[in-house]
Amino acid sequence: MYGGTFFCPLEEVIMKANELRQKYLDFFEQQGHAVVPSAAMVPENDPTTLFTGSGMQPMVPYLLGETHPKGSRIADSQKCFRSQDIEEVGDNRHITFFEMLGNWSLGDYFKKEQLRWFFTFLTKETGLDPEKLFVTVFSGNDELRIGRDDESVELWKELFSEVGVVATVGEDPETEGLKDNRIFFYDEKKNWWSRAGVPANMPAGEPGGPDSEVFYDFGADKRIHEKSEFKDEVCHVNCDCGRFLEIGNSVFMQYQKQEDGSFKELSQKNVDFGGGFERILAVIDDSYDVFTTEVFSPIISKLEEISGKKYGKSTEVNRSFRVIADHVRAATMLAADGVLPSNKEQGYFSRRLLRRAIRFGKMIGIEQAFLADIARVVAEMYSKPYPDVQKKLDRITLAFASEENKFQKALERGLRELEKIEKVDGEVAFKLYETYGFPFELTQEIASERGDSVSQEDFDEAKKMHAEASRQASSAKFKGGLADHSEQTTRYHTATHLLHAALRKVLGTHVQQKGSNITHERLRFDFSHSAPLSEEEKKQVEDQVNEWIVRDLPVRVQTLEKQAALDSGAIAFFVEKYPDEVTVYTIGTDPDSDWISKEFCGGPHVTRTGEIGPVEIFKEQSASAGVRRVYLRTKK
Ligand code: ALA
Repeated sequence: MYGGTFFCPLEEVIMKANELRQKYLDFFEQQGHAVVPSAAMVPENDPTTLFTGSGMQPMVPYLLGETHPKGSRIADSQKCFRSQDIEEVGDNRHITFFEMLGNWSLGDYFKKEQLRWFFTFLTKETGLDPEKLFVTVFSGNDELRIGRDDESVELWKELFSEVGVVATVGEDPETEGLKDNRIFFYDEKKNWWSRAGVPANMPAGEPGGPDSEVFYDFGADKRIHEKSEFKDEVCHVNCDCGRFLEIGNSVFMQYQKQEDGSFKELSQKNVDFGGGFERILAVIDDSYDVFTTEVFSPIISKLEEISGKKYGKSTEVNRSFRVIADHVRAATMLAADGVLPSNKEQGYFSRRLLRRAIRFGKMIGIEQAFLADIARVVAEMYSKPYPDVQKKLDRITLAFASEENKFQKALERGLRELEKIEKVDGEVAFKLYETYGFPFELTQEIASERGDSVSQEDFDEAKKMHAEASRQASSAKFKGGLADHSEQTTRYHTATHLLHAALRKVLGTHVQQKGSNITHERLRFDFSHSAPLSEEEKKQVEDQVNEWIVRDLPVRVQTLEKQAALDSGAIAFFVEKYPDEVTVYTIGTDPDSDWISKEFCGGPHVTRTGEIGPVEIFKEQSASAGVRRVYLRTKK
């Protein structure tokens, strides 16, 4: 069990957070870097992404060659938020808000200086034992015409040898394991970095490059610690079993993807380094748990006080503490950067964080309002580096308290909805969850009280159906940078609205959407209609959809009061389950007077129907009594 043996008591925190941050910045200043303040987590001039999720994001123009006003060596500690990690939180190391210690060479120094400086910083400035450090380098890729990074291997050997550590090379760590080696080769899945991930996912114009990562070894006894499924597997530094923790990544960002998919060397060789501030803080204390560091421990203490429970007692209790601590800390820092809970864009994530925190609070017995109390602790913790949080505290606590109140009401509304529903299935559970933030566990509990049941699998299945869309709406919202699959699902999303409208036009307005499911290969659409479609009807529907696509109609999004949206003719798949304010997508030349489709929908959609390309209906069948099912895909 997780507990006594490895739990690091909060009092044992050795290096203080502010001290570490300052040490890092001072050290890089000594190496000729200009220290710049953190940019806000809501990118200022970058419509391609909702949040700053890495230190390099605000640096992109300079990495691509623009002159930085402060010179060619820059360092900072950047506030980051990674929404895609929300559900990962709960273990010893995943967090959504973090600081990334960064340093950049903009066509200045390269591998030799970078690896030496970071290693020196770790071993001399923070005093980490070099025996506990392991590193990875890029194994090369013939197709991209990027060679194996032997240069970094030689540099690492020299650095380790200078501190009396023999460092040998593991060529195939994923099958061989560690084998007493210290430097390991990995391919682009692990040792290539760009905002969009591996080279294949990068949009044209995006910078990226091979990287070299540093890992800290907590010791072999940690590998079966929390994730016993790993205990029989080959352990290597990237295996995620918990033994190793990545603490820093030096990206040699010297390539830019071209329109034809090839990679061109940038005119300048850059370094983009990012170090996990909270993680380095944890390993300095050899603490397996980032939640025992100074940037979490005051929150954990406060939660112990509020809940009367003790952190470190059991895996379950720890998970709740960690989720709450992470989420309220993140929401508070986001709020200081202007993101308050709402239904839209960034605000949606703040809402999600706070609602999850409340729910996990209930699991450790917190029934009263507590978000504002935690926000106060966070503001105090960051009063030195980020005094803004303290300054905006009144606004933040007010917003949090109101969110707490709203969620309580949403819970009540969700309960009322549930009462009206005869049979609870995965789709119902998911809609309740998505629309009201109504917790699935609660739906499950209530269903079972009524002698009904809905399984986690049903819920996951329904969630999966909606997942591509929401994933895109969050961090992967990346103009032109969506993975091909996501682009295709966006097209199908819009095609769903066209198909719905075409069916209603051809068959009649009794047609109502009963469900849909999208993969990158096709869309499936269920609708109310009692008879099979004739060949003629199928053709008419298909032709109608294609006609609208060829007309390249604009797709517009509006936020409206629910009633006003209904009055304007918008149709909803699940009317009673939408909040008071809804987003409506309209397809047509004029959203008020000349449109062919108007639907309540969370998106995302293409901006013009022409982006979908020609489509075909390739299958039609019965789904259940009175419900037909058609499959549609884009023509090759
Ligand atoms: N940009 C690199 C990262 O986020 C350093 O890992």
